[in-house]
Amino acid sequence: MAEKKSSSWVLMVTAQTPTNIAVIKYWGKRDESLILPINDSISVTLDPSHLCTTTTVAVSPAFSHDRMWLNGKEISLSGGRYQNCLREIRSRASDVEDEKKGIKIAKKDWENLHFHIASYNNFPTAAGLASSAAGFACLVYSLAKLMNVKEDNGQLSAIARQGSGSACRSLYGGFVKWIMGKDYNGSDSIAVQLVDENHWDELVILVAVVSSRQKETSSTSGMRETVETSPLVLHRAKEVVPKRIIEMEEAIKSRDFPAFARLTCSDSNQFHAVCLDTSPPIFYMNDTSHRIISCVEKWNRSEGTPQVAYTFDAGPNAVMIARNRKVAALLLQRLLFHFPPQSDADLNSYIVGDKSILKDAG
Ligand code: DP6
Repeated sequence: MAEKKSSSWVLMVTAQTPTNIAVIKYWGKRDESLILPINDSISVTLDPSHLCTTTTVAVSPAFSHDRMWLNGKEISLSGGRYQNCLREIRSRASDVEDEKKGIKIAKKDWENLHFHIASYNNFPTAAGLASSAAGFACLVYSLAKLMNVKEDNGQLSAIARQGSGSACRSLYGGFVKWIMGKDYNGSDSIAVQLVDENHWDELVILVAVVSSRQKETSSTSGMRETVETSPLVLHRAKEVVPKRIIEMEEAIKSRDFPAFARLTCSDSNQFHAVCLDTSPPIFYMNDTSHRIISCVEKWNRSEGTPQVAYTFDAGPNAVMIARNRKVAALLLQRLLFHFPPQSDADLNSYIVGDKSILKDAG
């Protein structure tokens, strides 16, 4: 057992991880339990001051089993996804020594120690704002710190992926690509950073929280139904996305906003088309989402070149990326005029990033 001067020591680590929004979407798995996707995806990591998870993990010999609280409410850790992450992280633990507290934990001791985990989202959980992405990334990152896991972010991303696919992309800031990989065991299905948060820092991300209600169809079951029933999804995964990934990487590297906006909007629209092509069809967007799309499309057309890109995940909330701060201010003005939060029962609030594209998890 771990060496201890007193039997009631507790060792704690706190980490904060922002969520990410895909600009080329992940939708569909080829392996459900390892969470291996049917296509590559690309995302941008958001501002943690508005959309992030904060997780504190504690270990103590006084804890008899692993427990977790999400936003103050205890949740079960019995699900396969939590168990897979905990097992993978535990198996990579190293010796830990805290001289000040007089605590020494040997590698082999971790097998018999348990965790208490408290996690908070500063945004609506499961409302299509990628809460599971920030949540699992933060869980894996904080446990890895606590247990002195020596793996790099790429290897940690393969563990976070087993909690929720999109979580693997939240280990990095800036623009991030999740490579689908080829291995049967998923060891090469990892996230890599394409460019860091300083590369394209004039972009401003604005989220319109159209509804903070929990979505009716979770991403997990939605994508399962799509893979089982949609004739379009394989065409998307095999023919469309591979080309878009190449073009998107190029657009990001050369800061080509018109190309970036065209690809982002098209990919969001195709993802929702594939949801409609599912049987029974899945509707994630609502009337307000559609009106926001029309408003942005009209503005982009009237300017002659795109000023704003929009994208929607598995929910009605709009994520808009403005080409610079000036455009973001105009966009917010327009949105407040056309969609005033007070008058529309469904439209809750707007979230604007001060510095939208943030650093690595930490
Ligand atoms: C529409 O990562 O939440 O946001 O892997 O089953 O947990 P699981 O799904 P999840 O799906 C995210 C889907 C998406 C697109 C994306 O983030 O790429």
